[in-house]
Amino acid sequence: MKILVTGGAGFIGSHIVEALVRRGHRVRVIDNFFSGHRGNLAAVKADVEILRGDCADPAAARRSVRGIEAVFHEGAIPSVARSVAEPLRCHRANGTATLTMLLAARDAGVRRFIYASSSSVYGDTPTLPKRETMEPRPLSPYAAEKLSGEHYLRIFHRLFGLETLSLRYFNIFGPRQDPSSPYSGVISRFTTALLAGQTPVIYGDGQQSRDFTYVGNVVDANLRALTARGLDGEPVNVAAGRRVVLRALLSALARELGRPDEARHEPARAGDVKHSLADVSRARRLLGYRPRWDLEGGLKKTTAWYRESHRLRDRRSG
Ligand SMILES: NC(=O)c1ccc[n+]([C@@H]2O[C@H](COP(=O)([O-])OP(=O)(O)OC[C@H]3O[C@@H](n4cnc5c(N)ncnc54)[C@H](O)[C@@H]3O)[C@@H](O)[C@H]2O)c1
Repeated sequence: MKILVTGGAGFIGSHIVEALVRRGHRVRVIDNFFSGHRGNLAAVKADVEILRGDCADPAAARRSVRGIEAVFHEGAIPSVARSVAEPLRCHRANGTATLTMLLAARDAGVRRFIYASSSSVYGDTPTLPKRETMEPRPLSPYAAEKLSGEHYLRIFHRLFGLETLSLRYFNIFGPRQDPSSPYSGVISRFTTALLAGQTPVIYGDGQQSRDFTYVGNVVDANLRALTARGLDGEPVNVAAGRRVVLRALLSALARELGRPDEARHEPARAGDVKHSLADVSRARRLLGYRPRWDLEGGLKKTTAWYRESHRLRDRRSG
Protein backbone atom coordinates (compact mmCIF):
# COMPACT_ATOMS: atom_id res chain seq x y z
CA MET A 1 0.00 0.00 0.00
CA LYS A 2 1.16 3.60 -0.57
CA ILE A 3 1.07 5.37 2.77
CA LEU A 4 1.74 8.92 4.00
CA VAL A 5 3.09 9.57 7.50
CA THR A 6 2.87 13.23 8.53
CA GLY A 7 5.44 14.18 11.15
CA GLY A 8 7.31 11.03 10.07
CA ALA A 9 10.67 12.47 11.08
CA GLY A 10 9.50 12.80 14.68
CA PHE A 11 9.65 10.33 17.55
CA ILE A 12 6.46 8.29 17.05
CA GLY A 13 6.16 8.95 13.31
CA SER A 14 9.62 7.53 12.60
CA HIS A 15 8.78 4.30 14.45
CA ILE A 16 5.60 3.95 12.38
CA VAL A 17 7.57 4.61 9.17
CA GLU A 18 10.13 1.92 10.03
CA ALA A 19 7.41 -0.64 10.76
CA LEU A 20 5.58 0.14 7.50
CA VAL A 21 8.77 -0.16 5.45
CA ARG A 22 9.56 -3.49 7.15
CA ARG A 23 6.14 -4.75 6.03
CA GLY A 24 6.80 -3.80 2.42
CA HIS A 25 4.61 -0.68 2.15
CA ARG A 26 5.67 2.30 0.05
CA VAL A 27 6.03 5.22 2.43
CA ARG A 28 6.08 8.99 2.00
CA VAL A 29 6.78 11.42 4.84
CA ILE A 30 5.82 15.07 5.13
CA ASP A 31 7.57 16.97 7.90
CA ASN A 32 8.51 20.61 8.45
CA PHE A 33 11.34 19.53 10.81
CA PHE A 34 10.04 21.75 13.59
CA SER A 35 11.04 19.09 16.11
CA GLY A 36 11.76 16.10 13.85
CA HIS A 37 15.14 15.12 12.40
CA ARG A 38 16.25 13.32 9.24
CA GLY A 39 18.49 11.25 11.52
CA ASN A 40 15.36 9.60 12.98
CA LEU A 41 14.81 8.01 9.55
CA ALA A 42 18.44 7.00 8.99
CA ALA A 43 17.68 3.26 9.03
CA VAL A 44 15.08 3.51 6.23
CA LYS A 45 16.09 6.61 4.30
CA ALA A 46 16.71 4.71 1.04
CA ASP A 47 13.15 3.35 1.13
CA VAL A 48 11.22 6.48 2.08
CA GLU A 49 10.24 9.57 0.10
CA ILE A 50 10.70 12.60 2.33
CA LEU A 51 8.91 15.90 1.58
CA ARG A 52 9.83 19.00 3.54
CA GLY A 53 6.55 20.82 4.02
CA ASP A 54 4.01 22.18 6.46
CA CYS A 55 0.74 20.25 6.88
CA ALA A 56 -1.10 23.53 7.46
CA ASP A 57 -0.09 24.72 3.98
CA PRO A 58 -2.80 23.54 1.53
CA ALA A 59 -0.41 23.24 -1.43
CA ALA A 60 2.08 21.11 0.55
CA ALA A 61 -0.77 19.01 1.95
CA ARG A 62 -2.14 18.39 -1.58
CA ARG A 63 1.31 17.40 -2.84
CA SER A 64 1.81 15.01 0.06
CA VAL A 65 -1.38 12.97 -0.49
CA ARG A 66 -1.04 12.45 -4.26
CA GLY A 67 -1.45 8.70 -5.01
CA ILE A 68 -1.79 7.86 -1.29
CA GLU A 69 -4.22 5.23 0.06
CA ALA A 70 -3.82 5.77 3.80
CA VAL A 71 -2.55 8.60 6.02
CA PHE A 72 -1.08 8.39 9.51
CA HIS A 73 -1.31 11.96 10.80
CA GLU A 74 1.36 12.29 13.50
CA GLY A 75 2.62 15.82 12.71
CA ALA A 76 1.95 18.27 15.55
CA ILE A 77 3.56 20.36 18.27
CA PRO A 78 2.86 17.83 21.03
CA SER A 79 3.18 19.96 24.13
CA VAL A 80 0.63 21.11 26.69
CA ALA A 81 3.01 23.72 28.14
CA ARG A 82 3.95 25.14 24.77
CA SER A 83 0.29 25.45 23.78
CA VAL A 84 -0.32 27.49 26.95
CA ALA A 85 2.65 29.75 26.08
CA GLU A 86 2.00 29.99 22.30
CA PRO A 87 -1.62 29.03 21.58
CA LEU A 88 -1.90 30.47 18.07
CA ARG A 89 1.27 28.86 16.82
CA CYS A 90 0.22 25.51 18.27
CA HIS A 91 -3.30 25.85 16.89
CA ARG A 92 -1.84 26.15 13.39
CA ALA A 93 0.31 23.02 13.84
CA ASN A 94 -2.33 20.96 15.65
CA GLY A 95 -5.73 22.25 14.57
CA THR A 96 -5.38 23.94 11.18
CA ALA A 97 -2.89 21.32 9.96
CA THR A 98 -5.30 18.48 10.76
CA LEU A 99 -8.22 20.07 8.91
CA THR A 100 -5.94 20.93 5.96
CA MET A 101 -4.69 17.33 5.74
CA LEU A 102 -8.25 15.98 5.95
CA LEU A 103 -9.40 18.22 3.10
CA ALA A 104 -6.42 17.23 0.97
CA ALA A 105 -6.99 13.54 1.74
CA ARG A 106 -10.68 13.75 0.87
CA ASP A 107 -10.00 15.53 -2.42
CA ALA A 108 -7.28 13.03 -3.41
CA GLY A 109 -9.51 10.01 -2.76
CA VAL A 110 -7.50 8.71 0.21
CA ARG A 111 -9.33 5.75 1.74
CA ARG A 112 -8.23 5.78 5.39
CA PHE A 113 -7.01 8.51 7.77
CA ILE A 114 -5.56 7.55 11.17
CA TYR A 115 -4.96 10.41 13.62
CA ALA A 116 -2.66 10.76 16.63
CA SER A 117 -4.94 12.18 19.30
CA SER A 118 -4.13 12.44 22.97
CA SER A 119 -5.30 11.38 26.43
CA SER A 120 -5.18 15.08 27.34
CA VAL A 121 -8.68 15.46 25.82
CA TYR A 122 -10.11 13.80 28.97
CA GLY A 123 -8.88 16.61 31.22
CA ASP A 124 -8.85 16.28 34.98
CA THR A 125 -12.11 14.48 35.67
CA PRO A 126 -11.57 12.22 38.72
CA THR A 127 -13.04 9.05 37.18
CA LEU A 128 -10.47 6.41 36.27
CA PRO A 129 -9.90 4.57 34.04
CA LYS A 130 -10.74 6.87 31.14
CA ARG A 131 -13.26 5.42 28.70
CA GLU A 132 -13.99 6.80 25.25
CA THR A 133 -17.67 7.26 26.20
CA MET A 134 -16.77 9.88 28.87
CA GLU A 135 -17.32 13.53 28.09
CA PRO A 136 -13.99 15.15 27.17
CA ARG A 137 -12.95 18.18 29.28
CA PRO A 138 -9.82 19.70 27.69
CA LEU A 139 -7.76 21.81 30.10
CA SER A 140 -5.23 23.26 27.67
CA PRO A 141 -5.16 24.68 24.16
CA TYR A 142 -3.26 21.53 23.10
CA ALA A 143 -6.06 19.26 24.37
CA ALA A 144 -8.73 21.45 22.73
CA GLU A 145 -6.82 21.31 19.42
CA LYS A 146 -6.51 17.52 19.60
CA LEU A 147 -10.22 17.19 20.41
CA SER A 148 -11.20 19.44 17.50
CA GLY A 149 -9.17 17.10 15.26
CA GLU A 150 -11.21 14.14 16.54
CA HIS A 151 -14.45 15.98 15.77
CA TYR A 152 -13.24 16.75 12.25
CA LEU A 153 -12.35 13.08 11.73
CA ARG A 154 -15.83 11.99 12.83
CA ILE A 155 -17.42 14.63 10.57
CA PHE A 156 -15.30 13.62 7.56
CA HIS A 157 -16.35 10.02 8.14
CA ARG A 158 -20.04 10.94 8.27
CA LEU A 159 -20.08 13.53 5.50
CA PHE A 160 -17.58 12.14 3.01
CA GLY A 161 -17.17 8.46 3.86
CA LEU A 162 -13.45 8.80 4.66
CA GLU A 163 -12.51 5.86 6.93
CA THR A 164 -11.20 7.68 9.98
CA LEU A 165 -9.89 6.70 13.39
CA SER A 166 -8.53 8.84 16.24
CA LEU A 167 -6.06 7.04 18.48
CA ARG A 168 -5.84 8.65 21.92
CA TYR A 169 -2.22 8.07 22.92
CA PHE A 170 -1.40 7.97 26.64
CA ASN A 171 2.14 9.20 27.52
CA ILE A 172 4.27 7.50 24.95
CA PHE A 173 7.95 6.80 25.54
CA GLY A 174 10.79 5.02 23.79
CA PRO A 175 13.98 5.45 21.78
CA ARG A 176 14.34 8.73 19.85
CA GLN A 177 12.04 10.77 22.07
CA ASP A 178 13.73 14.16 22.06
CA PRO A 179 14.81 15.15 25.58
CA SER A 180 16.21 18.56 24.60
CA SER A 181 12.91 20.38 25.00
CA PRO A 182 11.70 21.30 28.49
CA TYR A 183 8.26 20.18 27.27
CA SER A 184 9.23 16.73 26.12
CA GLY A 185 8.20 13.38 27.64
CA VAL A 186 9.17 12.87 31.25
CA ILE A 187 10.92 9.51 30.74
CA SER A 188 13.32 10.99 28.19
CA ARG A 189 13.99 13.99 30.45
CA PHE A 190 14.58 11.87 33.56
CA THR A 191 16.81 9.43 31.67
CA THR A 192 19.02 12.06 30.06
CA ALA A 193 19.34 13.99 33.33
CA LEU A 194 20.36 10.81 35.21
CA LEU A 195 22.88 9.86 32.52
CA ALA A 196 24.39 13.36 32.65
CA GLY A 197 24.77 13.08 36.44
CA GLN A 198 22.08 15.75 37.04
CA THR A 199 19.15 15.69 39.44
CA PRO A 200 15.86 15.28 37.49
CA VAL A 201 13.17 17.94 37.93
CA ILE A 202 9.66 16.93 39.05
CA TYR A 203 6.93 19.54 38.57
CA GLY A 204 4.61 19.35 41.59
CA ASP A 205 4.72 16.76 44.38
CA GLY A 206 5.56 13.76 42.20
CA GLN A 207 2.36 11.95 43.19
CA GLN A 208 0.79 12.53 39.78
CA SER A 209 0.37 9.33 37.80
CA ARG A 210 0.36 8.37 34.15
CA ASP A 211 -0.37 5.38 31.92
CA PHE A 212 3.12 5.24 30.39
CA THR A 213 3.02 3.42 27.06
CA TYR A 214 5.97 2.04 25.15
CA VAL A 215 6.13 3.25 21.54
CA GLY A 216 6.09 -0.36 20.26
CA ASN A 217 2.48 -0.60 21.47
CA VAL A 218 1.57 2.56 19.55
CA VAL A 219 3.10 1.19 16.35
CA ASP A 220 1.15 -2.02 16.84
CA ALA A 221 -2.14 -0.13 17.31
CA ASN A 222 -1.48 1.93 14.16
CA LEU A 223 -0.69 -1.13 12.05
CA ARG A 224 -3.88 -2.77 13.24
CA ALA A 225 -5.81 0.42 12.44
CA LEU A 226 -4.62 0.20 8.85
CA THR A 227 -6.59 -2.98 8.18
CA ALA A 228 -9.28 -3.08 10.92
CA ARG A 229 -12.89 -3.36 9.79
CA GLY A 230 -15.82 -1.39 11.12
CA LEU A 231 -14.12 1.96 11.78
CA ASP A 232 -16.92 4.35 12.75
CA GLY A 233 -15.01 7.62 13.14
CA GLU A 234 -15.08 7.36 16.96
CA PRO A 235 -11.89 7.59 19.08
CA VAL A 236 -9.96 4.73 20.69
CA ASN A 237 -7.56 4.74 23.67
CA VAL A 238 -4.04 3.46 23.05
CA ALA A 239 -2.19 2.78 26.30
CA ALA A 240 -0.65 0.15 28.52
CA GLY A 241 -3.68 0.17 30.85
CA ARG A 242 -1.53 0.53 33.98
CA ARG A 243 -0.99 3.61 36.18
CA VAL A 244 2.49 4.55 37.44
CA VAL A 245 3.23 7.32 39.97
CA LEU A 246 5.88 9.74 38.71
CA ARG A 247 8.09 9.50 41.79
CA ALA A 248 8.09 5.68 41.56
CA LEU A 249 8.97 5.90 37.88
CA LEU A 250 12.01 8.00 38.73
CA SER A 251 13.09 5.42 41.31
CA ALA A 252 12.78 2.63 38.71
CA LEU A 253 14.87 4.59 36.21
CA ALA A 254 17.51 5.49 38.80
CA ARG A 255 17.78 1.80 39.72
CA GLU A 256 17.99 0.73 36.08
CA LEU A 257 20.77 3.25 35.40
CA GLY A 258 22.57 2.80 38.74
CA ARG A 259 22.20 6.51 39.66
CA PRO A 260 21.10 8.26 42.90
CA ASP A 261 17.34 8.29 43.41
CA GLU A 262 16.89 12.03 43.97
CA ALA A 263 14.57 14.70 42.55
CA ARG A 264 14.43 18.50 42.47
CA HIS A 265 10.85 19.76 42.85
CA GLU A 266 9.45 22.77 40.99
CA PRO A 267 5.88 24.18 40.95
CA ALA A 268 3.24 22.17 39.08
CA ARG A 269 2.76 23.28 35.45
CA ALA A 270 -0.42 24.99 34.25
CA GLY A 271 -2.68 22.73 32.19
CA ASP A 272 -1.14 19.43 33.40
CA VAL A 273 -3.63 16.80 34.62
CA LYS A 274 -3.07 14.99 37.94
CA HIS A 275 -3.87 11.37 37.08
CA SER A 276 -4.30 9.42 33.90
CA LEU A 277 -5.17 5.79 33.18
CA ALA A 278 -6.83 4.20 30.16
CA ASP A 279 -9.42 1.53 29.67
CA VAL A 280 -8.16 -0.22 26.52
CA SER A 281 -11.09 -2.57 26.00
CA ARG A 282 -12.46 -0.68 22.97
CA ALA A 283 -9.04 -0.93 21.29
CA ARG A 284 -9.11 -4.66 22.01
CA ARG A 285 -12.58 -5.05 20.48
CA LEU A 286 -12.06 -2.82 17.45
CA LEU A 287 -8.39 -3.47 16.65
CA GLY A 288 -7.56 -6.70 18.45
CA TYR A 289 -5.01 -4.56 20.34
CA ARG A 290 -3.25 -5.89 23.44
CA PRO A 291 -0.26 -4.06 24.94
CA ARG A 292 2.64 -6.29 23.96
CA TRP A 293 5.26 -4.26 25.83
CA ASP A 294 5.03 -3.67 29.57
CA LEU A 295 6.67 -0.75 31.39
CA GLU A 296 9.74 -2.69 32.48
CA GLY A 297 10.47 -4.09 29.00
CA GLY A 298 9.94 -0.66 27.43
CA LEU A 299 12.16 1.07 29.99
CA LYS A 300 15.00 -1.38 29.32
CA LYS A 301 14.85 -0.72 25.55
CA THR A 302 14.61 3.00 26.12
CA THR A 303 17.43 3.39 28.65
CA ALA A 304 19.67 1.21 26.44
CA TRP A 305 19.06 3.59 23.53
CA TYR A 306 19.70 6.71 25.64
CA ARG A 307 22.84 5.14 27.10
CA GLU A 308 24.15 4.47 23.60
CA SER A 309 23.36 7.98 22.30
CA HIS A 310 24.88 9.49 25.46
CA ARG A 311 28.05 7.42 24.89
CA LEU A 312 28.26 8.49 21.21
CA ARG A 313 27.78 12.16 22.18
CA ASP A 314 30.51 11.88 24.82
CA ARG A 315 32.85 10.29 22.31
CA ARG A 316 32.16 13.01 19.71
CA SER A 317 32.76 15.83 22.19
CA GLY A 318 35.69 14.08 23.89
N1 LIG B 1 4.63 11.59 22.75
C1 LIG B 1 3.48 11.43 23.41
O1 LIG B 1 3.45 11.02 24.58
C2 LIG B 1 2.15 11.73 22.75
C3 LIG B 1 0.97 11.58 23.51
C4 LIG B 1 -0.25 11.85 22.92
C5 LIG B 1 -0.30 12.24 21.58
N2 LIG B 1 0.85 12.40 20.87
C6 LIG B 1 0.75 12.82 19.47
O2 LIG B 1 1.55 11.96 18.67
C7 LIG B 1 2.06 12.68 17.56
C8 LIG B 1 3.56 12.50 17.45
O3 LIG B 1 4.17 13.02 18.62
P1 LIG B 1 5.73 12.83 18.95
O4 LIG B 1 5.83 12.60 20.40
O5 LIG B 1 6.31 11.86 18.00
O6 LIG B 1 6.28 14.29 18.68
P2 LIG B 1 7.50 14.81 17.78
O7 LIG B 1 7.63 16.27 18.08
O8 LIG B 1 8.68 13.95 17.94
O9 LIG B 1 6.93 14.62 16.32
C9 LIG B 1 6.08 15.55 15.68
C10 LIG B 1 6.60 15.68 14.26
O10 LIG B 1 5.71 16.56 13.55
C11 LIG B 1 6.50 17.50 12.82
N3 LIG B 1 5.64 18.66 12.62
C12 LIG B 1 5.21 19.55 13.56
N4 LIG B 1 4.40 20.45 12.99
C13 LIG B 1 4.32 20.12 11.68
C14 LIG B 1 3.62 20.68 10.57
N5 LIG B 1 2.84 21.76 10.72
N6 LIG B 1 3.78 20.11 9.36
C15 LIG B 1 4.60 19.02 9.19
N7 LIG B 1 5.26 18.44 10.21
C16 LIG B 1 5.11 18.99 11.44
C17 LIG B 1 7.71 17.74 13.68
O11 LIG B 1 8.82 18.28 12.98
C18 LIG B 1 7.99 16.32 14.18
O12 LIG B 1 8.78 15.60 13.26
C19 LIG B 1 1.62 14.13 17.75
O13 LIG B 1 0.46 14.36 16.98
C20 LIG B 1 1.28 14.20 19.23
O14 LIG B 1 0.33 15.21 19.51
C21 LIG B 1 2.08 12.15 21.42
